[in-house]
Amino acid sequence: MKVTVLPGDGVGKEVTAEAVRILERVCSVHGEALETETGLIGGVAIRETGLPLPDETIETCLKSDAVLLGAVGSPEFDDLPPSERPEIGLLKLRQALGGFANLRPSKAVPALLDSSPLRREVFEKTDLLIVRELLGGLYYGEPRAMNQNAGEAFNTMRYSVPEIERVARIAFESALARNKKMTSVDKANVLETSRLWRQTVTRVAADYPSVELEHILVDACAMHLVTNPRRFDVILTENLFGDILSDEASVLTGSMGMLPSATIGGNVDFYEPVHGSAPDIEGRNIANPLGAIASAAMLLRYTLKNESAARTIEQAIDRALEDGYRTIDLTGMDDPKLVSTSEMGQIVLEYVADGSNASHASLAV
Ligand code: IPM
Ligand code: MN
Repeated sequence: MKVTVLPGDGVGKEVTAEAVRILERVCSVHGEALETETGLIGGVAIRETGLPLPDETIETCLKSDAVLLGAVGSPEFDDLPPSERPEIGLLKLRQALGGFANLRPSKAVPALLDSSPLRREVFEKTDLLIVRELLGGLYYGEPRAMNQNAGEAFNTMRYSVPEIERVARIAFESALARNKKMTSVDKANVLETSRLWRQTVTRVAADYPSVELEHILVDACAMHLVTNPRRFDVILTENLFGDILSDEASVLTGSMGMLPSATIGGNVDFYEPVHGSAPDIEGRNIANPLGAIASAAMLLRYTLKNESAARTIEQAIDRALEDGYRTIDLTGMDDPKLVSTSEMGQIVLEYVADGSNASHASLAV
């Protein structure tokens, strides 16, 4: 398996370094051949090549089985228009790889019930999956423009039936493999794109009679996510709604740093933590690497189709948390089990290597 690693900006470099060494270890434990190559994207790519997504990066990615990305975005480029910013590198790469279904699971971690700002009664046992359409909507719709002189700007939200259908199928397939409940989220009381979305999802649902389908409006969904998140199994939604709702859903796991994502359905599968580049903590070795590490687990599950290797990583993450290890986003400065990015990576690495052995005692933190 060939994996292109794109560390990108901010803490991306630190978290992907941990994810990659764990991926290497788990592949060697499970007898899988792994080859990695590194590429440039985002602000670092602009600094080195002048472009947020150099051609070489696209070529390398297209020759691999999967891409693992850290994060993209840097305040240094805040004054540039969207078309020249680091983020455009990510948006173009998503397009080049073709994955249109972005899977963002959010699960309450028993060991982290006290790390979330929400009360535990509200969110414990939550286990949901957001399926975010990733190649359409406002992110890519034309026409779009900002006319500085006229003091006017516009974007276009556009969806076609095939675009909705293909992501809906992936969401229904996911629901079949889970608790068979699907919530399609839209704004059909206001938007035409949402009316088409609702009609199309309803039609696709006929092919999945064992999945229970409901439609809800995005504002109501935002409210239910923090008041009654257990009501959800699979949430299917368009690009921007999915972007917003998945950040909101991250509080259910205790921290934004925990959430992984997988983008499938295209030529090359794409994996990235949901968190951003967090420039304020860049280079300090304090970022939570678990979202990136869990993204590597998703890579093993969806691209390599090695469920047991994926679980090895996920169990190692759970065990590190059960044993009390915490990065700063999950605890306070006075926590004796406070660990750095690389220490958390090391703990997960050791747990991956020794599988189900007894509790971890040797590591000095
Ligand atoms: C995400 C990010 C990206 C997005 C940004 C960095 C372009 O917020 O992956 O959720 O909006 O898709
Ligand atoms: Mn986002």
